[in-house]
Amino acid sequence: MTDLLRPHVLGASPARVEGAAKVTGTALYAGDQRVTDPAYLHLVQAEVARGRVTSVDAEAALALDGVLAVLTPDNAPRLASTDDAELAVLQSHDVDFRGQVVAAVVARTPEIARQAGALVDVRIDEAPHDVHLGADRDDLYAPEEVNAGAETDTSQGDVDAAMAEAPFTVDHTYTTAWYNNNPMEPHTTTALWSDGDLVLHDSTQGVHPTRDTAAEVLGLDPERVRVVSPHVGGGFGSKGTAHVNVIITALAAKAVPGTPVKLALTRQQMFSLVGYRTPTIQRVRLGCDEGGWLRAVAVDVVEQTSRIKEYAEQTAVPSRMMYAAPHRSTTHRLAALDVPVPSWMRAPGECPGMFALESAVDELAIACGVDPVEFRVRNEPEVEPESGKPFSSRNLVACLREGARRFGWDDRDPAPRSRRESDWLVGTGVASSTYPVNKMPGSAATVRRTVDGRFRVEIGAADIGTGTWTSLAQVAADALGVEFADVELRIGDTDLPKATVAGGSSGITSWGSTVVAAAREFRAKFGDDPDEGDELTATMPEDDASDEYAKHAFGAQFAEVRVHVDTGEVRVSRLLGVFAVGRVVNPRLARSQLVGGMTMGLSMALHERSVLDERFGHVVNHDFAEYHIAANADVPRVEALWIDEHDPHVNPMGTKGIGEIGIVGTAAAIANAAHHATGVRVRDLPLTLDHFL
Ligand code: MOS
Repeated sequence: MTDLLRPHVLGASPARVEGAAKVTGTALYAGDQRVTDPAYLHLVQAEVARGRVTSVDAEAALALDGVLAVLTPDNAPRLASTDDAELAVLQSHDVDFRGQVVAAVVARTPEIARQAGALVDVRIDEAPHDVHLGADRDDLYAPEEVNAGAETDTSQGDVDAAMAEAPFTVDHTYTTAWYNNNPMEPHTTTALWSDGDLVLHDSTQGVHPTRDTAAEVLGLDPERVRVVSPHVGGGFGSKGTAHVNVIITALAAKAVPGTPVKLALTRQQMFSLVGYRTPTIQRVRLGCDEGGWLRAVAVDVVEQTSRIKEYAEQTAVPSRMMYAAPHRSTTHRLAALDVPVPSWMRAPGECPGMFALESAVDELAIACGVDPVEFRVRNEPEVEPESGKPFSSRNLVACLREGARRFGWDDRDPAPRSRRESDWLVGTGVASSTYPVNKMPGSAATVRRTVDGRFRVEIGAADIGTGTWTSLAQVAADALGVEFADVELRIGDTDLPKATVAGGSSGITSWGSTVVAAAREFRAKFGDDPDEGDELTATMPEDDASDEYAKHAFGAQFAEVRVHVDTGEVRVSRLLGVFAVGRVVNPRLARSQLVGGMTMGLSMALHERSVLDERFGHVVNHDFAEYHIAANADVPRVEALWIDEHDPHVNPMGTKGIGEIGIVGTAAAIANAAHHATGVRVRDLPLTLDHFL
């Protein structure tokens, strides 16, 4: 392979180029930006789930030394657009969910701002609220479409008839919890106005999308807004769209002319202001014949959205393409509640959806007496089931086989409770993973020959911890035919050519395709020996042919779980993921993404759950003391591998995206292993010990 001849280009593992800056503390995040004499913002939040602000008394707060301004619904500058109700901060007196921003204090220090925030007296006329999600609600509705533009409902054949005829069926309801995105770096914004121009240092997954949103809401020409974001301490989707922190910081800076304003949300504030994964209730019906061939797949999903802004998680979507079956139907229904606005969280749709589907597949495989790995292999479709399109590449079977071999699956006694080691029941389980190959149109990149004989490559891409600074430079070097060290990449700034969001695992696919196009055009125009200053800008090519194929990444996840016979304590002792994700640009960074996703899936399986107190509409465990995230001691041996996959149809690099697939299926593999260990089937996450007692 050509990779091997060029050890510092595609397929090699250079360390993160910004790694030293990060670990020595010199990498500047949004809140660290050195601005002259900044002020600090603190948000005051509604303590009821629904109502109307009747008065805001800021006198005591304003009397505090160092307080510069208090913004309220009565005095906040007006926004040009209030179409996005989540962003229409302080534009009305309505309270739509507990935690909504009802006032904001600007002060000389963060401490003073916070103290003053506690002194702002907000009176709210409370109204009855409704935050209860249930499949039995009579006001569930079908959204026009679900996230990523997918169809709300689909149907093929006759599921009811097929279920009635099938010798083996499962019909169960599975639930996933409310999960909150918790990147290490909170959502942070620094805003500076000068002569009507706005600069935002923002912790974002996309500088241009954030700029466009801020410009529209604030009523500015996008050219007058600059968003800068060289380093981001994690996002997981919550920084994929601009949230209220961006808008309120810009408004606050307007209220104190000449003073830059900084806001870092507190951890607790992130539980209501930056999106979260909706809880899901999924009824899954599967039927198969004597040999374990699926006849029917039906998934009916109920989930929540907020009353003020719709977000519909596409939870049933993966069940439309995973397995062959002649009869199939999927539906999504929403309850619009007085809750914070849900949004993207790592693998929206696929992550909760594959917990239910892959648990149900395990149940059906057991029911018909077919090994769970073999069952999945048997139901491998030849073409994408609903669309009939050929797969650009589909190596799920290879992942299952290779994973089974490495995991030692064949030695397994399929009987539940068949393995005990001292006081622990030990079981193993498997689940499939999948994630679509997303490519977003609209990026551009510039290549320039610099004075030192290197190549500067510019694109407003984001590195949210994924390694873009390194891997995109590898793509550029490969496309230019130069060494990695000869590329100087610039990203994370709207002054650079426009780039799409780091979302939907589309980053390297979209930005890489753009950079490759620019590099190729640069070489075509300037040849092998360009002059200093030669420069070319190109946009991402539209490739019509790619729509002929169904493009997805796949994987197989294997888990070993131990459940204590007396206490019910659940430990995961081993995870193995084998993935088919196309070309891997940088194995070191890819492994980090996949292991990170699997670890987040383990955390979802065993620990994470935002607990809503329905009386108050409040997530009560809104901090790291009580919202449990897997810590080092919870995470055992996690191995992530991939098979050699070459897909000529996805993009010029042959990559499929690796940021999200790692979390898909992990929780099901763990729940399936827990069933094998104990004989107890848990259909409601997380797998807390009470389930096993
Ligand atoms: Mo990812 S949840 O699409 O940022």
